[in-house]
Amino acid sequence: MGAILPRHVAIIMDGNGRWAERRGLARHAGHREGVPVVRLCVEECVRRGIGALTLFAFSSENWRRPEVEVANLMTLFFDALEREVAELDANGVRLRVIGDRHALSVRLQARVAEAERRTAGNTRLDLQIAVSYGGRWDIVQAARKLAAEVATGSLRAADIDEARFGGALALADLPDPDLFIRTGGERRISNFLLWNLAYTELWFTDTLWPDFDVAAFESALEAFALRERRFGLAAAPGERDRA
Ligand code: IPE
Ligand code: IPE
Ligand code: MG
Repeated sequence: MGAILPRHVAIIMDGNGRWAERRGLARHAGHREGVPVVRLCVEECVRRGIGALTLFAFSSENWRRPEVEVANLMTLFFDALEREVAELDANGVRLRVIGDRHALSVRLQARVAEAERRTAGNTRLDLQIAVSYGGRWDIVQAARKLAAEVATGSLRAADIDEARFGGALALADLPDPDLFIRTGGERRISNFLLWNLAYTELWFTDTLWPDFDVAAFESALEAFALRERRFGLAAAPGERDRA
């Protein structure tokens, strides 16, 4: 099926809490069950030759959840990094964490830095994990970076254009996501990649993240292959009937 592959897939991994609650389990059980699904998506991207994958793991707003849930999630990231980094490295995955990393514990920051350093030379898949990330945070930190350059005189305000601004964002060196997937039934962006999703194709599923599987991923890719992307241009002749 469909030769038209996205170059970059962005996923909001939602529904862990509900998955657990439906089974009478603590929310944390759902988060834990979500980890192998991350692995599965990474493997699928590597196997299919999708060059970039960005996963929303923890938002700027998720800090306001109960302290114990936040602590459990941070432990889960810490352990998963430790466990998975060797295999990611062996599979040619370059791992990067995007988000306000100063909000993370010093211990977790160090582990993130180590995983990034270890995988920095890999070129098969660019894997971004968004932790303590918000699309608004990203835009504000970019504005602040550019403002600082203007203040020191190394940049003229008039030279700030979309390319320059995009270059100051967390995903600076990557193409914008072609395909956005959100599991868990909500039809919203929840402060994910606000700038970069401008022309991304959106695909939603009610499937909860721990239940997301290869077949579901395949469905998203098939739906993507059938989309006509116009980027504001007029439909191409012959595409009109399908649009
Ligand atoms: C997504 O699952 C994981 C995080 C936001 C950390 P949720 O924890 O939001 O699960 P639901 O949406 O409550 O089911
Ligand atoms: C979005 O999910 C963030 C992540 C999956 C990490 P949320 O569960 O936090 O989003 P809302 O609250 O339903 O919008
Ligand atoms: Mg949720």
